[in-house]
Amino acid sequence: MKFGYFDDAAREYVITTPRTPYPWLNYLGNEDFFGLISHTAGGYCYCKDARFRRLTRYRYNNVPWDDGGRYFYIQDGDCVWSPGWKPVRTELDQYRCRHGLSYTIIQGVKNGLEAEALFFVPLGTWAEVHRLTLTNRSQAPRTFRVFSLVEWCLWNAHDDLNNLQRNFSTGEVEIDGSTVYHKTEYRERRDHYAFYGVNAPLVGFDTDRDAFLGAYNGFDRPAAVVEGKPRNSEAHGWSPIASHCVEVRLEPGEARSLVFVLGYVENPQEQKWERPGVINKAGARDLLARFATPAAVDAALQDLRSFWDRLLSHYVLESGDGKLNRMVNVWNQYQCMVTFNLSRSASYFETGIGRGFGFRDSNQDLIGFVHQVPARARQRILDLAATQFADGSAYHQYQPLTKRGNSDIGGNFNDDPLWLIFSTTAYIKETGDFTILDAPVPFDNDERSAQPLFEHLKRSFYHTVNNLGPHGLPLIGRADWNDCLNLNCFSNDPNESFQTTGNRAGRTAESLMIAGQFVLYGREFVALCARIGKGDEARAAQEHVDRMVRAVLEHGWDGAWFLRAYDFFGRKVGSKENEEGQIFIESQGFCAMAGIGLEEGRVVTALDSVRERLDCEFGVMLNQPAFTRYLIEYGEISSYPQGYKENAAVFCHNNPWIMIGETVLGRGERAFEYYRKIAPAYLEEMSDLHRLEPYVYAQMVAGRDAYRPGEAKNSWLTGTAAWNYYAITQFILGIKPGYDGLDINPCIPPAWEGFRVTRIFRGATYHIEVRNPRHVSKGIKRVSMDGKVLSGGAIPISDPGTEHRVMVELG
Ligand code: BGC
Repeated sequence: MKFGYFDDAAREYVITTPRTPYPWLNYLGNEDFFGLISHTAGGYCYCKDARFRRLTRYRYNNVPWDDGGRYFYIQDGDCVWSPGWKPVRTELDQYRCRHGLSYTIIQGVKNGLEAEALFFVPLGTWAEVHRLTLTNRSQAPRTFRVFSLVEWCLWNAHDDLNNLQRNFSTGEVEIDGSTVYHKTEYRERRDHYAFYGVNAPLVGFDTDRDAFLGAYNGFDRPAAVVEGKPRNSEAHGWSPIASHCVEVRLEPGEARSLVFVLGYVENPQEQKWERPGVINKAGARDLLARFATPAAVDAALQDLRSFWDRLLSHYVLESGDGKLNRMVNVWNQYQCMVTFNLSRSASYFETGIGRGFGFRDSNQDLIGFVHQVPARARQRILDLAATQFADGSAYHQYQPLTKRGNSDIGGNFNDDPLWLIFSTTAYIKETGDFTILDAPVPFDNDERSAQPLFEHLKRSFYHTVNNLGPHGLPLIGRADWNDCLNLNCFSNDPNESFQTTGNRAGRTAESLMIAGQFVLYGREFVALCARIGKGDEARAAQEHVDRMVRAVLEHGWDGAWFLRAYDFFGRKVGSKENEEGQIFIESQGFCAMAGIGLEEGRVVTALDSVRERLDCEFGVMLNQPAFTRYLIEYGEISSYPQGYKENAAVFCHNNPWIMIGETVLGRGERAFEYYRKIAPAYLEEMSDLHRLEPYVYAQMVAGRDAYRPGEAKNSWLTGTAAWNYYAITQFILGIKPGYDGLDINPCIPPAWEGFRVTRIFRGATYHIEVRNPRHVSKGIKRVSMDGKVLSGGAIPISDPGTEHRVMVELG
């Protein structure tokens, strides 16, 4: 069952009923200022940091769902309604929500009155613009009142919902013309404020929530709205809000737009005040003036559309499969951009107060957006590397506002350092910018310790070399990619966190996932060293890589698949000898991608075991059999009920590792089948089971052992986005940036006739046509560029601004 449809030409997902199985989200903003907006206008916004600079309040996991947002109420005689259905939930005659690229348009029609609300954050602007267009579709003149509503968050989103004994006394506002200013704590250490204004005169306003709603009322029945009478309340403490009341009169057929601006301003310390006690409003006035007319709003929206045209022009696919085209060309890239901007901080599953930016997460995300915004990717790499320690290990997370490592969680996730090699080499291949390797970067943000970035990569590599266990395999530390496989944790106490508890500092537990990762990214390190003339470095590193390959072959093979780990006691994890958790996806994925034992047939055997034991209708499950009881020596993974999260769900993030592994074997049919099983556009028809947005990936889909297999959770902020984009574009469609050009090596279902890709790479445009006349999966018969046959599959680097025709024949 579907709840909407893809409008491919407009690059929108159109939701046709407000009763989706879960609030379906979109994001506004691309630089510093971000908004989360659901299909009923729920959500919130913040500047730079979802925890420390939250503008509007949002209560997670509330009842009814998703209450709180930027709301419009229309009071039309006895009828009160909202264009997005919520919060009033008056039945609408028509409802549409268009989630587009960084904007959302919600339209409601009731009794011949149409209200269309456009929400977006203009480029380079610290504000959300809300344009509400009202059209009289009836035969008679209409006079009605429009009320707006946002509830202010007292800045620190964590404190806001906790420290009520203080907060209920701190709230302060100012009202000036048609603008409400939120200035809580401005009198003391803050030099920033928020505002919500409209380009129309007001009948009245409200800034005190309780006065507006009336005691014991919810957002659905504010007393001021029901009575059509704003209270002109001034908040002192309690819960400040901003609500405007505007009266509108429309002749039949007439339309009128109101433009609301919800913004954020920082003032220099010495210019905080206009006069004693009155904030300096110049910044806000400037923003309000910029968007005072509907034409200015149109122009800003047009700029945003052009911005997305440019971002999405770097890789454009034309295949015979509409679902694939929309994933590759629009939605997957869009999600990658959002994960770049937010990492794992704020979604409808991440509250914006917990995890900041993850070291492994953000390094992996980079492969999904580096082609879109290379300059920003460069900065991200440098920020991440600055949270590394001198021994090569890294803080697991950092706070975006301060860019400092988060010491509550600390480090010792032993996969973390290697992801820096992955991201940096991907960046250089995309851009050709080797200078990044010379950029001075501190350790633990201590400027005195700065070393060239290359040194950070070297320490990442040697962090693994210096932390090997009894079998010569990498020590796992707190955990590897799977944060929930906690082999040194031994937690008995429900009050402690699996993530930060390290009850036994063992040097026994080893990870085969990190082993595969080390071989894969270790080779990248070797190739990089060779490429920049560090031959000795390359040779030394190669020896460590070769040694690791031998260790995996000797101690990491279980007969038909790769082991997952050795535990604290040196016992096998992910072996046929175990009762549960006999096989895991991560080590199969990484050892296959690294091609360990390829010649000996181990990769094929391991991936056939994956097929036999881990594959299900909804994708490849993380492990099998699922754990049915808590194992103290395994930790969090066994804490989940069977089929959920890391205990045997389809953890979508690592499915692409198997897809890429299949392409190493040349099995395009299977690679693409795995792709299709989890790509959201292919799941649209079963949205009632899946429950989450059909335009973005979710982290997890319940596995075969779950109560409701196929049900998804945790959409939007997941490494799934970048990894799937990487798998489909670089390995299945097979167009891969290299240091010296574009490597072409597709691995597709044999039935495909071919496909076309337009790729902008280092400033030149390549129109690539892949033909598959012999219906093979993989193998290049001939590549030519501009009529000249090339040797091998690599397209050389061309001058920026030039355009080229590339013909690829498989066979
Ligand atoms: C985390 C990742 C982790 C994955 C598997 C995600 O929630 O963001 O860092 O690798 O779970 O445990």
